Amino acid sequence: MIKPIVVSGIRPTGYLHLGNYYGAVRNFLRMQEDYNCYFFIADIHSLTTHPTPENLQAGVKQVLAEYLACGIDPEKSTIFIQSDVPEVCELYTFLNMNAYLGELERTTSFKEKARKQPENVNAGLLTYPVLMAADIIIHKAEFVPVGKDQEQNLEMARKFAGRFNRMYKQEVFPIPRPFTFDGGDMIKVPGLDGSGKMGKSEGNGVFLYEDPKEIRKKVMRAVTDAGPTEPNSKKTEPVENLFTLLKIVSTPDVVDHFEKAYNSCEIRYGDLKKQLAEDIIAVTAPIRERILEILKDDAYLAQVARIGAEKARESAVRTLQEVKEVIGFKRLF
Ligand code: TRP
Repeated sequence: MIKPIVVSGIRPTGYLHLGNYYGAVRNFLRMQEDYNCYFFIADIHSLTTHPTPENLQAGVKQVLAEYLACGIDPEKSTIFIQSDVPEVCELYTFLNMNAYLGELERTTSFKEKARKQPENVNAGLLTYPVLMAADIIIHKAEFVPVGKDQEQNLEMARKFAGRFNRMYKQEVFPIPRPFTFDGGDMIKVPGLDGSGKMGKSEGNGVFLYEDPKEIRKKVMRAVTDAGPTEPNSKKTEPVENLFTLLKIVSTPDVVDHFEKAYNSCEIRYGDLKKQLAEDIIAVTAPIRERILEILKDDAYLAQVARIGAEKARESAVRTLQEVKEVIGFKRLF
């Protein structure tokens, strides 16, 4: 049986935190067992914010090392750097001819980015969903594992794929679908600041590369409350969040212990935090060690990127040939 194709792009900005790990990365690890996965680092997309060459390079290297350290396996998946597969830019150009100003201007991600960087509302920002569509359909992907924030971009990719097929009256592209496990949602990891979910820009995250000392410091500073005054009282959001984190990284008996302590008003948040920090460290320390090791090994990183690019290009070149044929670019000589 041919394995369905999954494509996912990873922005080379920032570092992986626990939220990314339990949200996206662990799903990638499961997916690569059963699907033909293409994971790539979206370095062309990242140009919309005008990084310096040094930052671009460092960002790409860091994410590559971090994903490898988490267990994305270049033998099982195709892991590559977007700019190593220039065919995607060609498809992007073709798709742009059928992408309309109105629909691009209406996407929430465009409006949001235009608001965030009013001094740099460039055409790349506007056509970001077109390049993303090209990333996906150039491999004829059937599934795209995306979070809520990317739903609309994926909807655009479906639209562009369908539009191309209809325009040329051929089923060149499968219509990609969002991927969720067992029909369920991803685990939501809360931050340490007592509200919302863990995020890079929120400044409430624990990062995989952080050393145990930093992690202990961060967790010990996490927001709590004055403590329960009545047995079995409802938890406030900050405390609920710490329990949610504990459920993610600790064993059920540890969770149970602190639940009981909370319900009998005997809980000491300091103890809970100490335990939480150690259990987070148990999860992250081995990954951190691998990140540091891989970052030192430029030859290995280069080899992974080269093999990934070869595999991705094979598939991209094949699709592009078909696309050009369908469009009507016939060879005259
Ligand atoms: N837009 C995605 C993000 O910001 C990154 C991305 C680029 C992507 N191309 C993609 C995701 C293709 C999935 C498929 O996270």
